[in-house]
Amino acid sequence: MKNKTVIVIGSSRSNGNTRRVVDQLISLSSDIDIIDLNSYNIGFYDYDFKNRNDDFFPLFLKILEYDTIIFATPIYWYTMSAQIKTFLDRISDVLHEDKKVFGRKLRGKNLATISCGSDNEIFDGFTMPFEQTSNYLGMNYLGHLHTWLDNNSELPDIVKNKLKEFSTYL
Ligand SMILES: Cc1cc2nc3c(=O)[nH]c(=O)nc-3n(C[C@H](O)[C@H](O)[C@H](O)COP(=O)(O)O)c2cc1C
Repeated sequence: MKNKTVIVIGSSRSNGNTRRVVDQLISLSSDIDIIDLNSYNIGFYDYDFKNRNDDFFPLFLKILEYDTIIFATPIYWYTMSAQIKTFLDRISDVLHEDKKVFGRKLRGKNLATISCGSDNEIFDGFTMPFEQTSNYLGMNYLGHLHTWLDNNSELPDIVKNKLKEFSTYL
């Protein structure tokens, strides 16, 4: 059976630079679905699970249909966007008692990350939370791709080539 891949985008603008990068990747590997976190109402983690009826759980179930999950995030203050961080925090919901069985379904799935910053520099430490989270959840961390746009808001050739190479692993 074919490996099913989804890209989960968490950016403060749905049609911004991160989306541009993701669209370029999709154009190279058409069989990838996209989920934009802006289309969902997902509250911050709550210790009493007061937001258990928001969009997180149904979205999580949808994501479980995929073998490979790619988080695509702009770099905001050297790290992932708040949208992606909130999604990661909410995974704690499905590690809890009645929903534990769902959290366990992440085991064996692949996780990868794409970042989009303002230039080619990415500081150490960006990938650590994703690597450790994958490890904790029993997922395989496939790796990270950093991207950026040039001064004319175009994807530089080097980024296009990186995306091309990345697509061959999907
Ligand atoms: C709040 C905020 C913080 C940012 N911090 C960084 C940063 O630490 N490093 C960086 O390279 N770019 C930073 N940027 C620039 C964005 O990463 C860059 O413009 C990115 O392409 C935006 O993607 P988007 O259109 O999907 O939001 C920041 C932008 C914003 C709005």
